[in-house]
Amino acid sequence: MISKFQNLIDLNDYPVSWWDELIELGKKIKKNPEEYAHKCDGKIMGTLFYEPSTRTQMSFQTAMLRLGGRVIGFDNPETSSVAKGENLKDTTKIVSSYADIMVMRNPLEGSAKAAALTADCPIINAGDGKHLHPTQTLTDLLTLSEKKGRLGGLTVGVCGDLINGRTVHSLLKALSCYPDNTFVLISTKELRLPSYIKSILKATNSKYIEVESLEEAMPMLDVLYMTRIQKERFASEIEYLSQKDIYILDNRKLSLAKKDLIVLHPLPRVDEIAVEVDDDPRALYFEQAKNGVFIRMALVLTMIGNTNPQVLLKGKTHAGVCCKNPKCITNHEQYLPKNFIGNGDTLECEYCDERLLRE
Ligand code: NCD
Repeated sequence: MISKFQNLIDLNDYPVSWWDELIELGKKIKKNPEEYAHKCDGKIMGTLFYEPSTRTQMSFQTAMLRLGGRVIGFDNPETSSVAKGENLKDTTKIVSSYADIMVMRNPLEGSAKAAALTADCPIINAGDGKHLHPTQTLTDLLTLSEKKGRLGGLTVGVCGDLINGRTVHSLLKALSCYPDNTFVLISTKELRLPSYIKSILKATNSKYIEVESLEEAMPMLDVLYMTRIQKERFASEIEYLSQKDIYILDNRKLSLAKKDLIVLHPLPRVDEIAVEVDDDPRALYFEQAKNGVFIRMALVLTMIGNTNPQVLLKGKTHAGVCCKNPKCITNHEQYLPKNFIGNGDTLECEYCDERLLRE
């Protein structure tokens, strides 16, 4: 199935050269934002936030306002017709007929792709469940490129909730496309990176190791990407509590690191980085959040009005086969074609990437 517009569902739908161009444009905008102040005069962004957000939502809004455009939308579906039972298709169809570009965050995996199937303007994925968060990754790449001067040849530690953290999934997928990166996956056994992301790391010949100790990993890292334990994605409070507070970066642990380490975090922080770390020059997460505006300005400029069609679904449906991920959008919006990419005895859901074995 083909969308009428070019959307940003997954960064890996585009070549690395496209990401690099966006990063360069983001840097140019950061140096001279006034030059771009009227580039979106008269344009409207629609923001549909079905999940809480501070940075992503407000940095998109700021980006559009700084480009001269205006913003409509909701940040709580309970105040929209979603509360009356409206499906994603209808909400998307309507808002995309009011706006020139749409940004959506939704707790269901694959929701951005589902929305793009019927939207009348380009859609940007601002986080779909625990699946992907491509614009956070662009923010991370801009910050890394500025601070390290390169996106390859880095030893990158990702620490915390690797199973549920969409920022980690998108970041690893992206960084695995640059040469000679090594990944240190720091988590408990329970929160290890999903196997489909590990398969991507293997397919790109990226080196990775899995460790449980942050102290052990610290001395080898060029970048440490800390993440929050994603309370809202756990099946029970007890499971969440068993994982909470296992990884806390403090000055003592930071003293084990290289002098030119950089510490990133998509934020919000709960308690995985002690506040004392904020004063260390290696702590770059606030600057990272600020960069979110410039890269999103670059993204909006690049995508708005882009009417090149995009192929969204390449696979096919299989009689009686459903995705086994209960949080996949296809298990909530019944009208969606349940498409899979076939691969021998394995099928991969085209919306959420969940793999299932053929019966
Ligand atoms: C992240 C998200 O929503 O996935 N936040 C963000 O967009 N900056 C990380 C998180 O919520 O832990």
